[in-house]
Amino acid sequence: MPDMNETRDIDITFHDFLRTGPDTIAGRYLRSFWQPVYRGVDLLKGKAKPVRIMSEDFTLFRGEDGIARMLEARCAHRGAKLSVGWVEGNDIKCAYHGWAYDGTGQCVKQPAEPRPFCDKVKVRAYPIEEYLGLIFAYLGDGEPPVFERFPEFENSAYVTLLTTGTWNANYWAQLENSIDYAHTEFLHWHFHFKTPQRVNVDQTEFGIRVSVPGLSGGLSAYDTMIFTMPNTHEWAVPPLNGEKVGAFARSWRIPRDDESHIRFDLRIYPLKAEEAEAFKKRGEALGMTQQAGQVPAIAQSIIDGTTDFAAIKENRSIGGGQLVQVQDCTVMTSLGPMATREHKEMLGQTDVAIALLRRLWKQELQAFAAGRPLQQWKRPDRLWAEMTDAPASGN
Ligand code: FES
Ligand SMILES: [Fe+2]
Repeated sequence: MPDMNETRDIDITFHDFLRTGPDTIAGRYLRSFWQPVYRGVDLLKGKAKPVRIMSEDFTLFRGEDGIARMLEARCAHRGAKLSVGWVEGNDIKCAYHGWAYDGTGQCVKQPAEPRPFCDKVKVRAYPIEEYLGLIFAYLGDGEPPVFERFPEFENSAYVTLLTTGTWNANYWAQLENSIDYAHTEFLHWHFHFKTPQRVNVDQTEFGIRVSVPGLSGGLSAYDTMIFTMPNTHEWAVPPLNGEKVGAFARSWRIPRDDESHIRFDLRIYPLKAEEAEAFKKRGEALGMTQQAGQVPAIAQSIIDGTTDFAAIKENRSIGGGQLVQVQDCTVMTSLGPMATREHKEMLGQTDVAIALLRRLWKQELQAFAAGRPLQQWKRPDRLWAEMTDAPASGN
């Protein structure tokens, strides 16, 4: 006789990781964390932008007071997209018939209605935090969790670079790629890495640490990959473009929908004063902040056969930082929508970190679905600084 009190975990399959719409288990799980949705610098005062995150549309706008606000996509009246309207003061006014909403989603004006019924009209508003140059939103139900900070990336004396882009690849492909140490030697040929036999894959308080002693033939920091649950990762970037120092990078990967994802890459270069100024000038000359947007088009031309890796390798036509992205974007986009991927996979010994990632996510999704407490992942304030001699933060 079965125990009637026994609760069974729902079965979580690989496909559940890939789908993140509002009614999916992974979508609801990811919505229970703060997620970045836009670069602050791309949202000007008095402007509104449409944003698509996890197969849902939103309206993001910045009031005249400089504060960013996020509402659902459409006007409550007849459904025009609010982002095509005007920001007036700290409200957004629908372009169609002029209904206006404040940052709480409350309708505050209905110019053509003889007897305004504003008070009864409200669209959904989402909590926002602006931090490290990113606009974060909480898209989940109920109260948002405590907003997590990353002191190692706050050091204003150092040079930071924040880039974004959208790739036509499922976000999950990128999460797995972040700890896939075996691809560097082959796909990122210009690093001249060599994959050793020995690898340490550890579950930690923040997620997963993969260390591959000797991978880079240089500093141990370059042999390490950090995965911070649920959808971020960090690594040390070796010096590129003839520079003397590399960077620490933290990346957020957010599904745009089930076939594409938005990337936010924050890099901090431990350079100060004149060194920092000179570095910034060289970076501007190389177009380091603009290049991220060109990556998907170049990747697509390689997939289509218009050009190929051999030509890029030969001509050295693409700079170091952009080259890494072109290489990754090409293979990840080539995976396609991933719908049938699990039937075509043959995991090998070097996929051990990916297997752990899937296990952790499966555990978390099962707990989430059953309403059990989730693991409280915590990135320590000092992570990279422990592995290198770079100061973590301050001044
Ligand atoms: S649809 Fe927005 S005011 Fe009519
Ligand atoms: Fe890569």
